[in-house]
Amino acid sequence: MKEIKAIIQPFRLDAVIDALRRHPELPGVTISDVVGFGKQKALSTPDGQNVQVGAQAFAKKTKLEIVVDDDAVDEVVDLITRAAHTGNPGDGVIIVYDVLDKRRIRDGKQFGDA
Ligand SMILES: Nc1ncnc2c1ncn2[C@@H]1O[C@H](COP(=O)(O)OP(=O)(O)OP(=O)(O)O)[C@@H](O)[C@H]1O
Ligand SMILES: [Mg+2]
Repeated sequence: MKEIKAIIQPFRLDAVIDALRRHPELPGVTISDVVGFGKQKALSTPDGQNVQVGAQAFAKKTKLEIVVDDDAVDEVVDLITRAAHTGNPGDGVIIVYDVLDKRRIRDGKQFGDA
């Protein structure tokens, strides 16, 4: 089991979610508004996509967190990459982690059953 964390441009969220919803094994997605910076240091982000915190400018991004079985990882990563891609700096990053446990709160069931 793995967690896929994707930081994407907010305006690509609709396209990414549309693509994810078509995946037959997608168990769920958590979505957050986040800020950050990459190599561009948020300096070249278009107007309206930056937020000032004190003296610092950060780029507004959207974070997706998805826990999936190992066999679905490559497909989900490809799907996000294609849907989020513009080819410009700031398109974001995808990070994959090992997951130790996943449990459903409703009945305490673990892993694939949850
Ligand atoms: N190494 C990293 N660790 C954590 N978050 C990152 C990392 N690199 C990028 N991010 C996140 O992704 C967002 C977009 O960064 P991204 O890497 O796409 O832009 P960039 O580095 O400015 O340009 P480039 O497209 O050339 O990489 C950042 O604002 C930050 O939130
Ligand atoms: Mg970068």
